[in-house]
Amino acid sequence: MKLPHLFLISIGLMFGLFACDSATDEEQYSSFFSNEELSYPVNIEQGKKLMENRCYVCHNPSIPKEQLIAPPLIQVKEAYHAEDFGHFLADMKRWLNHPDTAYTKMPKSIEQFGLMPKQKYSEETIDLIANYMFRAQIEAPEWWSGNNQGNQAKEHFETAEDQGLHYAMSTKRVLGMNLMGTIQKSGTLAALEFCNVAAIPLTDSMSQKHQVYIQRVSDKPRNPNNRATGKALEWIEKFKNDFKIEKEVTPITERIDDKIHFYYPIETNDMCLQCHGKSNAISNDVAQQLANLYPNDEATGYEVNQVRGVWHIIFDAD
Ligand code: HEC
Ligand code: HEC
Repeated sequence: MKLPHLFLISIGLMFGLFACDSATDEEQYSSFFSNEELSYPVNIEQGKKLMENRCYVCHNPSIPKEQLIAPPLIQVKEAYHAEDFGHFLADMKRWLNHPDTAYTKMPKSIEQFGLMPKQKYSEETIDLIANYMFRAQIEAPEWWSGNNQGNQAKEHFETAEDQGLHYAMSTKRVLGMNLMGTIQKSGTLAALEFCNVAAIPLTDSMSQKHQVYIQRVSDKPRNPNNRATGKALEWIEKFKNDFKIEKEVTPITERIDDKIHFYYPIETNDMCLQCHGKSNAISNDVAQQLANLYPNDEATGYEVNQVRGVWHIIFDAD
């Protein structure tokens, strides 16, 4: 099967995340990792709220460009880009505890807005906000079009297939990065809770961003709300067959009234098996938690390179 470009990038990111030196990070930032409260998923919502309450006074993404009093946080996130959360958190802490021109990463912003005033933030507030900023998709202002985070709803696509693939792959990247990050830092069990609580809200927030409807559905769903029906189910069968005969997989689009319905397979890889594999691939604690959360779980028994489900994405036809 021919893999789209973005997928390869996200695999690259996955290995990148694995490769980073988590042991030293964890030692160095033990305040963050030893605190039960700070593990996913409690805090993703908490972090978002704190960020909106404490930072949006100045960093509000809905302020028109001409009236800005500080750069939008999506821009801050780019300037503070780090391979791993430990470094991101350390930089964020240093700044928030002591805004100082000596170690700014955004000298142009200081020129434009003046130095950020020092405020008092508790350790926990900083941890939670940094955690959210690092892992979640930050709301971008309408005028923003930075590094591939821009206002993609207005982007031009050659074909409906390209457009659908773009939505599918960018959602996948966000989900994948969050999932990998959580597995790496906190283990599979914590990641499972992250999937449980955050998978649907995350795909929703991507949907809002793109003003499209994005769902992952499966013929063997874990969450019964993700059960494929109708056309989606038919296409899953077709994709399974394509996989079997090793036919190149291409997206399917159908126009219904003024909407495009887009379908594309979601394929398993090694990483998925610790939560979707056969019983010997799933650890006991994960299996037990799955049984608690999803008494009717059908989504196990997979091997690599199988069709786990499809992206079903609906957007306006031009
Ligand atoms: C009272 C207004 C104000 C509030 C509240 C505020 N900031 Fe800022 N912030 C600014 C301004 C102005 C800048 C741009 C100038 C600068 O970089 O110092 C800035 C810049 C930054 C930078 C980039 C610093 C650099 O130069 O490298 C970071 C990081 C940052 N803010 C994080 C936050 C976070 C996180 C919060 C919420 C906890 C927050 N800020 C709350 C005004 C504010
Ligand atoms: C840490 C455990 C974990 C890992 C690893 C994991 N998943 Fe899941 N997955 C879940 C959970 C939990 C749900 C249910 C989410 C919900 O309640 O919406 C889920 C749901 C899904 C769904 C939605 C359909 C359904 O069954 O509800 C798809 C599709 C999916 N996973 C694909 C994958 C793929 C592909 C991989 C590997 C790239 C993967 N998952 C890795 C735990 C995991």
